[in-house]
Amino acid sequence: MKLNDFLTEQWMNDYEGRAVYNMTDTCVQPLSLRELTAMDEDHLLERTILDYGVITGDEKLKEEILRLYHTGSTANIATTHGCLAANEMVMNTFLEPGDTVVTFVPGYQQFTDIPASLGCRVITVSLREENGWMPDEKELEAAFHSPVKMVILNNPANPTGRFFDEAFLEKLTGYCRPEKTYILSDEIYRGKDPDEISVSDLYEYGISTSGLAKMFSLAGLRMGWIKASEEIIHQLNVRRDYTFISTGPLADTLSCIALRNQDYLIERSRKIISADKQVYTEWLKKEKHASLVMPEKGTVGFLRYEGNIPSRDLALQLLDEHGVFFVPGSCFGCENHLRIGFTRDPEMVTEGLRFLSEKLAEINC
Ligand SMILES: Cc1ncc(COP(=O)(O)O)c(C=O)c1O
Repeated sequence: MKLNDFLTEQWMNDYEGRAVYNMTDTCVQPLSLRELTAMDEDHLLERTILDYGVITGDEKLKEEILRLYHTGSTANIATTHGCLAANEMVMNTFLEPGDTVVTFVPGYQQFTDIPASLGCRVITVSLREENGWMPDEKELEAAFHSPVKMVILNNPANPTGRFFDEAFLEKLTGYCRPEKTYILSDEIYRGKDPDEISVSDLYEYGISTSGLAKMFSLAGLRMGWIKASEEIIHQLNVRRDYTFISTGPLADTLSCIALRNQDYLIERSRKIISADKQVYTEWLKKEKHASLVMPEKGTVGFLRYEGNIPSRDLALQLLDEHGVFFVPGSCFGCENHLRIGFTRDPEMVTEGLRFLSEKLAEINC
């Protein structure tokens, strides 16, 4: 299976190490192992046996994961090594050459390039900035004129920050139900607000993937999961036996400790995200060369800038001159944009934006 370069990941690999002002990270300020183990009030860690553990994920962990959803039982959950692997497993299990897949752009490259590499026909529906990063209704409807095997979305979305609410998901399931089209919804940026409904709670062929990397600040645990019907989970578990067996008792136990404290972790993230959004809101009042559709949910947004400079050049100049680090819109096929994260110390973000303003003034003079 041939794959194109994953542009965002490559950009991070090549340049993130040089960041002084990391303005783009999608993961809320990570926790240390010390901070996490200090939450282990039930002394789970010292009793952990390092065998393969429960193959489809520790039962106690799955009970904690289930608290993030409204329906189902632990039989509807399987753990994976991160959300990325969860997505890959879903696509590899259910897609075949010749299938049609519908996904949204600008979006996460995995959703177009894995199906394409599997020989699928990929229909991309545009998220329109002038429409608050929502798709055009007619364009969306047209994508379903012939049978679709799978719709893939990210909710809330990277890089646009777009949150698809229940009304939109109901509309989408309306298109999908007649052909039993799967909806793979990567919900890694979902929190726990009552309106943040999961597709797996709404639709029998809805497959929700998620993990601890973003809203739970624990990317290093590499813990992800899938929630779907028991039949779908069974088919995915057949594949896991051939690929990675289990996520292992160490990651399962640490993840269980984290999710026993899920309300604290979500609240910690909420505070950081809203402080950063406040910094951007104030900055945008004065910055005439930039604009932003402020995301309702999640940790990322897609900042538009004015000026005749490719986003890659702008991002590299900011990094070289000041250590200010953004992912350029070119990594998402979208010029005049920078992907931003609301994930870091607001004072650092304020400083980084000061350098961005200087640069935008220079470019637009
Ligand atoms: C949409 C999306 N899905 C998945 C991931 C990776 O998730 P994980 O670290 O849990 O594999 C990312 C990371 O940037 C992402 O943006």
